[in-house]
Amino acid sequence: MTDRKLSLTDPDSGKTLELPVVAGTEGDPTMDITRLNRELGYFTYDPGYGTTANCKSDITFIDGTEGILRYRGYPIEQLAEKSSFVEVAYLLLYGELPTESELSGFDRDITYHTMVHEQVNTFIRGFHYDAHPMAILSGVIASMAGFYQHNLDVNDPEHRDLAAKRLIAKMPTVAAAAYRHYMGWPSAYPRNSLNYAERFLHMMFSVPAEAYEVNPVAAKALDLLFILHADHEQNASTSTVRLVGSTGANPYACVAAGIAALWGPAHGGANEAVLRMLNQIGDVSRVAEYMEKAKDKDDPFRLMGFGHRVYKNFDPRATIIRKACHEVLADLGQSDPLLYLAMELERIALEDDYFVERKLYPNVDFYSGIIYKALGIPTSMFTPMFAIGRTVGWVSQWLEQSASPHRIGRPRQIYTGKGERDYIAIDHRA
Ligand code: SDX
Repeated sequence: MTDRKLSLTDPDSGKTLELPVVAGTEGDPTMDITRLNRELGYFTYDPGYGTTANCKSDITFIDGTEGILRYRGYPIEQLAEKSSFVEVAYLLLYGELPTESELSGFDRDITYHTMVHEQVNTFIRGFHYDAHPMAILSGVIASMAGFYQHNLDVNDPEHRDLAAKRLIAKMPTVAAAAYRHYMGWPSAYPRNSLNYAERFLHMMFSVPAEAYEVNPVAAKALDLLFILHADHEQNASTSTVRLVGSTGANPYACVAAGIAALWGPAHGGANEAVLRMLNQIGDVSRVAEYMEKAKDKDDPFRLMGFGHRVYKNFDPRATIIRKACHEVLADLGQSDPLLYLAMELERIALEDDYFVERKLYPNVDFYSGIIYKALGIPTSMFTPMFAIGRTVGWVSQWLEQSASPHRIGRPRQIYTGKGERDYIAIDHRA
């Protein structure tokens, strides 16, 4: 809290209310409006919560104007270059970079929770073969409350920590199993001798008929993508996890709700939508036609992978992924015409007044799909890839909220429906 106050005066009653200003470590000052309705009789209206803070958090800081993203104070650029996904997971969960022994202990905990109960595989086999993997992921993760019902006391710190580790460890196992179900392949069990990204690639692509060697370039690229997707402040899926968690619901239900929110094409589903869009455009010669569609208010088409609620500058993650795209394709000896098309699309968009005026820049989803494609990951698995990385952010934010006193989330509304009226018997209705 600061000693600064903002005064609001009601023109009808002439009453003035002084609202305290709350300042965080960084970021814009915030008006505390908790007394506004009680003392002045007003609510606030903020559709999409574009200017509303729903919590205080120590975890991630974003500056949309400067294009800054920091996990627990560490710039994403440094973590992307120097850290690993498991180390970043420890940092987001516990607030500090681990010592060597802390890291090896945490990595061992994650490693030894990667297997799922065999009935989970039975559950997955019950889905239609071409069920979208996000449908399987959200359903199976929610069902885990039925496998771990003896460790669901959200007021018990040990239960909370165990659930967080189980979710981080098992998300890749379930995601890979969903892909194998579609392919008609038998289950592939996690290999404890592999690291987090290697283990996922092995569960995705190994087949019983022959040995599978993980490509180190692919594993390194995947580890980077998981780091970049790990957390992002109060985005739609994370604030969903917090809202569900505010009711005291168990962590598997909370994360399943986060998965459902992430699935939307305006959010985590955008990476899949970007690839479909690039394939739909097909050639640089058709970019201008699609730019016009993106600007046409009567056309539902949007340039997927562009724009962001917070970043009104480059998304720092997009900058890192763009660079990684070139490196991964070169290391794998691949070229992808979609990368050239994406770069041309970006160049043209960033010269177009419509996009410049609205500060619509490429976001994290614009280039990630091209790397996933280069690693052999099918388009339908792109959003599950986002969910694997973001599980760390979801459980970190859930732990932070669950560990301190909080109220149930309950937004209000502006009622615009009918005023009071009496019931009409059916034989008197028009
Ligand atoms: C993620 O919140 C997070 O942190 C999310 C995320 C995370 O890590 O969790 O960063 C991950 O979800 C990234 C965003 C992925 N989504 C997409 O790429 C889908 C395409 N983008 C848009 O749907 C949109 O930009 C949003 C949803 C990302 C942001 O929506 P906003 O902030 O509500 O912006 P808006 O709809 O108010 O747009 C402002 C203007 C509008 O035009 P006008 O009404 O002012 O004339 O910009 C236009 C919009 O029509 N616009 C676009 C556009 N995005 C916005 N026009 C064409 N193409 C686009 N992509």
